[in-house]
Amino acid sequence: MTSIVLVTSDDKLRSFADEWLPDGLNVFVRNAAPVTAEVVNTVVASGSTIAVLGPDLPERVLIDVVKTLQTSRPEIDCVAYRNPVAQFLVKGIHAGLRDVIGPRDGVSGLTNSLVALSEAADLRRANLTADVEPVSRGSIVSVIGPKGGVGKTTLAVNLAYSLAQYAANEVVLVDLDLVCGGIADALQLEPVSDVVAVSQGRIYEDPTALKLSLTTHSSGMLILPAPSILSHAEHLQAEDLTALLRHLSTHFAHIVIDSGPGSTDAALAAAVEADHLFVVVTPEIGGLNVLSRHLNGYDAIGLTAVGRHLVFNKDDPRAGITVEEAESALSERMSFIIPAEQQIVVTSNHGIPYLETKPRGPVAEAFESMLAVLQDEQTVGGTEEPKRWFR
Ligand SMILES: Nc1ncnc2c1ncn2[C@@H]1O[C@H](COP(=O)(O)OP(=O)(O)OP(=O)(O)O)[C@@H](O)[C@H]1O
Ligand SMILES: [Mg+2]
Repeated sequence: MTSIVLVTSDDKLRSFADEWLPDGLNVFVRNAAPVTAEVVNTVVASGSTIAVLGPDLPERVLIDVVKTLQTSRPEIDCVAYRNPVAQFLVKGIHAGLRDVIGPRDGVSGLTNSLVALSEAADLRRANLTADVEPVSRGSIVSVIGPKGGVGKTTLAVNLAYSLAQYAANEVVLVDLDLVCGGIADALQLEPVSDVVAVSQGRIYEDPTALKLSLTTHSSGMLILPAPSILSHAEHLQAEDLTALLRHLSTHFAHIVIDSGPGSTDAALAAAVEADHLFVVVTPEIGGLNVLSRHLNGYDAIGLTAVGRHLVFNKDDPRAGITVEEAESALSERMSFIIPAEQQIVVTSNHGIPYLETKPRGPVAEAFESMLAVLQDEQTVGGTEEPKRWFR
């Protein structure tokens, strides 16, 4: 059965709605701030196929909402409830409004219009044979590492930054350090939304609402930060997260995921979805021992050495552990080596991706070699295997 959402904060209209509608129409009444993204999210979240937009919405917002829904969710019919002034009618029709009903039409006018739209919607639904599976196009890059402070966030931020130099507005950096993540703060950004809100509210199902939920960095990368309120993270379900990542990869060229320390459910859910998995370790005996145990765990869930890249970060001759010694401790080769560089600490303290200030030099070269792998359609070995490693 068709359901109808009435978006308004107009009290008179809200109470009037109870009397309006005949049996057989399923009506939700919702309030939303008069902002395009809010109204669009409210309509989409209601699951309705008809949206009645109340007279309290500013005309500009109403037209924007109709245009947005017209392109992102064309199956939703929009009806405006307001006086049908000629100028508004022209704009509304151009935007894609299906009807304009005013107080003068009375209860029967509104009912007739909604019943007609509802019947048309039922017919359209009946004509649809099957849902079309989204076609994946973007690659998912996941950065993990059991030890804190090894450089996961530094790696994720600079990878996303580097990719955005080639593909502005096509790279999404997702902060899955749900406990201590602070990428938005670290980059001095005011977040629009966060990963839990977008996953739980299934905002990802609506491409326009999803795009409006991302925060843009001046470099062209888009950020989906961790929630600022810690308790919100408790409600994140792995399935919602997986669905979010899959949807992101259908709309963006690269998804780069930062994780917190340890092997959290979120980090592992992201790792399983990844086309490219970067595991970060530093020349510290404690970290090498912890990683050695976690590598066995990764193997057990299919994140095997074939698909993962070990990244040896903060390489420093003074550290007392060489790359070769670390490789022999882990029985696995390092794919990439990033030298220790004091300036990385300075730039991260200033909220700037290191590569923005120093696009050349040994650190930049290490990132270039990672980028070469990420931009390659094939797997690292250049085989004919499909690029998804973990499915
Ligand atoms: N190659 C490097 N040389 C010197 N300092 C580095 C290097 N990489 C990262 N750092 C510094 O190490 C510190 C920890 O880095 P970062 O926050 O990226 O680690 P993390 O693994 O994300 O930590 P956490 O587990 O707490 O999330 C930061 O001060 C960062 O600037
Ligand atoms: Mg971090």
